[in-house]
Amino acid sequence: MPSNAPVGVFDSGVGGLSVLREIRQLLPNESLLYVADSGHVPYGEKNPEYIRERCVLITEHLLAQGAKALVLACNTATAAAGAELRERYPHLPIVGMEPAVKPAAAATRSGVVGVLATTGTLKSARFAALLDRFANDVRVVTQPCPGLVECIESGELQAPATRELLHGYVAPLMAEGCDTLILGCTHYPFLRPLLGELVPPSVTLIDTGAAVARQLQRLLAQHDLLAAQAAQPTRYWSSGNTAQLCRVLPILLGERADVLPIH
Ligand code: DGL
Repeated sequence: MPSNAPVGVFDSGVGGLSVLREIRQLLPNESLLYVADSGHVPYGEKNPEYIRERCVLITEHLLAQGAKALVLACNTATAAAGAELRERYPHLPIVGMEPAVKPAAAATRSGVVGVLATTGTLKSARFAALLDRFANDVRVVTQPCPGLVECIESGELQAPATRELLHGYVAPLMAEGCDTLILGCTHYPFLRPLLGELVPPSVTLIDTGAAVARQLQRLLAQHDLLAAQAAQPTRYWSSGNTAQLCRVLPILLGERADVLPIH
């Protein structure tokens, strides 16, 4: 596998773009392929078997496009399919992601941590194991957020309906005394500006995009796969409405690009 081959990144939709921008910042030489599985969003309300099937199909597509490594830029997909993908593709460097429980437990001063994530992530065995491992000395309050992903998919980052929904999810966490909020879904970092208006400045917001980029860097280095030449422009696919992804790319990434269909 040539080191200048691209890295495949995917999510149930546009959420993984919050990870893609961190990868670009840390690894500007890496060429990236991005698949938004927006025809099947939200993963958070689907069963794990369905998500695993989608993840295998998308991985096959990215491999057919020459991907040298894979970033599962979705907490829900990692919980449902991370282990299976690693088993199926033992030679492919794969980076998954999970809610940042460990750093949040280290950061909290009130001893109460809030987790905003999808229903699927919060229900997963992987999340339960994460709490067992890292959250023994803190109280963790979880909040599933149905409907929020759809607001971000349509680029409505500041709309009154988005604000109202987000307020309804965050207010109970504030009432519980959370001083640290984990953004446990890759869509949610796009709501940081709105969240900043809804919670006091003393509340710390934690997501794992930058840590995932660093993990990708380590893994590529280990496999001698870090790109040496300048990156090619990112190529995009969507299983949903390609015109919608074209429309929201400038909102989410400040970039215009063509989007190809994928089924
Ligand atoms: N972006 C995904 C995550 O990180 C999930 C969104 C969805 O429910 O599809 O969990």
